[in-house]
Amino acid sequence: MQQPSPVPDSAAPLVDVVDLSVRFVSKDATVHAVNGVSFQLTAGEVLCILGESGSGKSVTMRALLRLLPETARISGQVRVDGRDVIAMAGNELARLRGGVASMIFQEPMTALDPVFTVGQQIAETIVRHEGTSWAEAEKRGLELLELVQIPSAKRRLASYPHELSGGLRQRAMIAMALSCRPRLLLADEPTTALDATVQIQILLLLRRLQEDLGMGVIFVTHDLGVAGEIADRVAVMYAGRFIETGPVVDLMEGPLHPYTQGLLGSTVHGGMRGQRLTAIPGSPPSLSELPTGCAFAPRCPQAMDVCQTSEPTERKPRPDRTARCVLVEESIQAA
Ligand SMILES: Nc1ncnc2c1ncn2[C@@H]1O[C@H](COP(=O)(O)OP(=O)(O)O)[C@@H](O)[C@H]1O
Ligand code: SF4
Ligand SMILES: [Mg+2]
Repeated sequence: MQQPSPVPDSAAPLVDVVDLSVRFVSKDATVHAVNGVSFQLTAGEVLCILGESGSGKSVTMRALLRLLPETARISGQVRVDGRDVIAMAGNELARLRGGVASMIFQEPMTALDPVFTVGQQIAETIVRHEGTSWAEAEKRGLELLELVQIPSAKRRLASYPHELSGGLRQRAMIAMALSCRPRLLLADEPTTALDATVQIQILLLLRRLQEDLGMGVIFVTHDLGVAGEIADRVAVMYAGRFIETGPVVDLMEGPLHPYTQGLLGSTVHGGMRGQRLTAIPGSPPSLSELPTGCAFAPRCPQAMDVCQTSEPTERKPRPDRTARCVLVEESIQAA
């Protein structure tokens, strides 16, 4: 009988997160920011984490690169490119950040230094990570500004960040994030501060770069339309958990969890882009006082007695979908 062939390395997930929890412990309270999140990302895939403000999206992203303050208590497993991030020593972490993985934020000024030109900053990153000559790094800097479609790229290399518009600054930050050819790009609401036209240009650019460079991308947003635009797969986050995951089209056309149904039901008639996730009455629970049962129960139109007392386990109705709700059967029959 033929032996099964070993799984090739290329099939290993780029990101593998198992039962990740992050708590912030202080004298007065314990904030349960992330509560047992598990997921995988394959190379070349775009996963969108969608959720209301305060649902734990940024903390989840920062945990992937251990960019969290000392007060954070992290448990579970985080592997990026096969390496255990939780166990990493400082020098290995520094190589991971800006090497295999890069992060872009809502506000480019958090990543760009106001006292150096865009060209100097990109070249400096390349020299530091790759040990190239300054001339070679400057040449790459120009190529990168052209790659992110900054007009008059050569001239812009000599610009300071404050001399650029919001959209150009965001492009410059993307260029910097791409400078060491990351295999994983983490984008935390990178288009939220931009107006709608610039936002769509940046989303299209990111999508094209992701395809051309074959990067895995995790994209955080509170905006349904943005998720629909950029994602292959969506994870809906609520009170520190992934309450539903699935391919973007399936999830938007047939949401399984009452929370996702509420989000989508209230927005299908309007233009979806720019829609904040606040359409469901009530507000999410405090992460320092999570209810015993389902965290969505106080807002759920279908809540039952059992929802108040026990937390729903994750159901996997199909191989590519999950939902944490007692109403979701383990296995949905094909229609
Ligand atoms: N450094 C911190 N110390 C204490 N609590 C924090 C810290 N960072 C985030 N939190 C809390 O963790 C929760 C999740 O935050 P966050 O991940 O930033 O939400 P989102 O990105 O979904 O808006 C929030 O209740 C927030 O107040
Ligand atoms: S478990 Fe219960 S309260 Fe929670 S979403 Fe499902 S039906 Fe609603
Ligand atoms: Mg955030």
